[in-house]
Amino acid sequence: MINKLPHIKAFLHIFGIAAIVIITAISPGCGLFQKMLTSMDMHPELVKRSEEFPGSHKCGDCHIDIYKEWSESTHSKSYINEEFRVATNNYEFEFCIRCHAPETVFLPLKKNIDDNTGISVTPSEKGEIAPRDYNLKDGVDCQGCHLTVDCEFSGPHSGISPHPIKQNEEFYKKSELCGTCHVDTFEEYLTYVGNGNDETCQDCHMPAVKRKLIQDEPWQKLHKKKEGKKHTFSSLSAIEKIKDFVELKFTEINNDNNQITGNVEIINTKVNHSIPTGKYGYREVMLLINFKDNLGRIIKSKQESMFVELNNQIKPGEKKIYNFVFDLDDKSGGHNELEAILLRTNFNRTDKTLFARVELQLDQLKID
Ligand code: HEC
Ligand code: HEC
Ligand code: HEC
Ligand code: HEC
Ligand code: HEC
Repeated sequence: MINKLPHIKAFLHIFGIAAIVIITAISPGCGLFQKMLTSMDMHPELVKRSEEFPGSHKCGDCHIDIYKEWSESTHSKSYINEEFRVATNNYEFEFCIRCHAPETVFLPLKKNIDDNTGISVTPSEKGEIAPRDYNLKDGVDCQGCHLTVDCEFSGPHSGISPHPIKQNEEFYKKSELCGTCHVDTFEEYLTYVGNGNDETCQDCHMPAVKRKLIQDEPWQKLHKKKEGKKHTFSSLSAIEKIKDFVELKFTEINNDNNQITGNVEIINTKVNHSIPTGKYGYREVMLLINFKDNLGRIIKSKQESMFVELNNQIKPGEKKIYNFVFDLDDKSGGHNELEAILLRTNFNRTDKTLFARVELQLDQLKID
């Protein structure tokens, strides 16, 4: 198969020359042939590491699906997002740019360059990435994760493409790549992997998909489907993939008709970093314990919040116990219910992502 590919390429070049003849002879405006010819050329401008880099939208001409997913991810907005603009005092703090608009994860801040080849010896570590000073609005863009210092695109596969490709499967499959910027989450992760849960950041945050890497016509016809990953980089895809990643339950409930007491237990069973995680931005995970009447109205409620900053986040495998005491009155007889909800929210409370919910009917309890 590999031997066949150069022949296909050669064939296409001959085909291209034939097409030039046909185009000049019959119809100068033939769009399809024109497109085939230009696509067959190498595109050196795609792999520049400077202002000449055409920007991620150009990658989207061919990698249509991946570009769309990335555009909808927060990575594509990591520079323009309002929170970042405000937090950097209108982009005044240069230190912050490196992870929010990186040159490439392969270019360390302290230049780790081999004198003979001029090539970076190791990928950047711990957020020590050189920042870009062009295409800033693209944030964490395609080049940030794929452009090598020697101006090729590296990725998990080999392939034939209009730009150079350097296969580097090992690096792209590993959490280290994400850890170059997600320094704290990666540190948490390193503490817990190996205990039977070896899923990588990519496994949970980039859903697996088998598809062609490009979707532009007619070139996609020449390419086979490959095992790849959606570029969603979201916690929602992780939540969908690993359902029941936290265990939530009521224990030691005691109901004496004047007062109801008990515990809510939370165990982070599957996520191998803390919940919540991350050093920057506002990330609050909230536990709501509600006591409801037989019409479903909330009569009493208790709220607990978990923040990385308060160091009360739920670490992998950890069990947290929150107790509650609700004093009862006349209104609270009958078919009452306890409910516990774990959700993530933001500063303005516009995001309410459900992590887990459990309920307990009180009339099913044995009251002594
Ligand atoms: C070059 C730096 C960099 C690299 C490499 C990187 N990220 Fe990010 N990531 C960021 C920044 C910056 C944000 C914050 C974006 C924002 O909200 O403005 C972020 C946000 C996220 C989020 C949060 C999304 C949300 O819903 O708020 C997830 C999940 C994520 N990245 C996963 C990954 C994964 C998985 C990898 C590895 C494949 C990765 N990241 C590699 C810089 C990076
Ligand atoms: C003119 C079309 C075209 C454009 C534009 C283009 N690519 Fe590609 N790219 C390809 C083709 C074709 C392949 C090989 C597909 C295959 O082998 O299935 C490829 C492969 C890749 C790979 C290797 C994937 C792997 O599996 O290892 C990466 C990474 C990549 N491109 C990144 C980019 C980036 C980043 C840009 C934008 C700067 C870009 N490409 C622009 C056509 C294009
Ligand atoms: C076993 C699956 C799993 C693995 C492995 C995993 N995550 Fe997560 N991640 C999740 C889940 C589920 C959430 C949602 C819960 C939360 O917000 O803490 C999440 C949340 C996040 C968030 C917060 C997103 C937000 O919107 O607030 C970031 C950032 C993140 N992960 C990055 C990473 C990085 C980087 C790695 C690798 C070092 C990684 N994750 C490994 C499952 C996983
Ligand atoms: C935060 C890092 C990051 C960013 C940003 C990013 N990629 Fe990727 N990309 C990856 C990783 C990791 C893989 C390998 C996933 C795997 O197969 O395990 C990958 C794989 C690929 C592949 C090979 C196919 C596949 O799904 O495995 C192509 C092509 C590609 N990326 C193109 C792009 C393009 C185009 C953009 C911009 C629109 C982009 N990438 C942005 C991290 C990134
Ligand atoms: C080492 C890489 C790195 C550096 C340096 C960095 N960030 Fe970030 N930033 C991230 C990552 C990764 C995220 C995603 C959430 C997390 O893991 O903390 C993020 C998220 C954010 C968010 C939240 C955006 C949102 O939509 O929720 C803000 C605000 C932010 N960073 C501001 C800053 C500021 C201000 C600085 C400079 C003082 C800075 N960052 C420097 C990596 C970095």
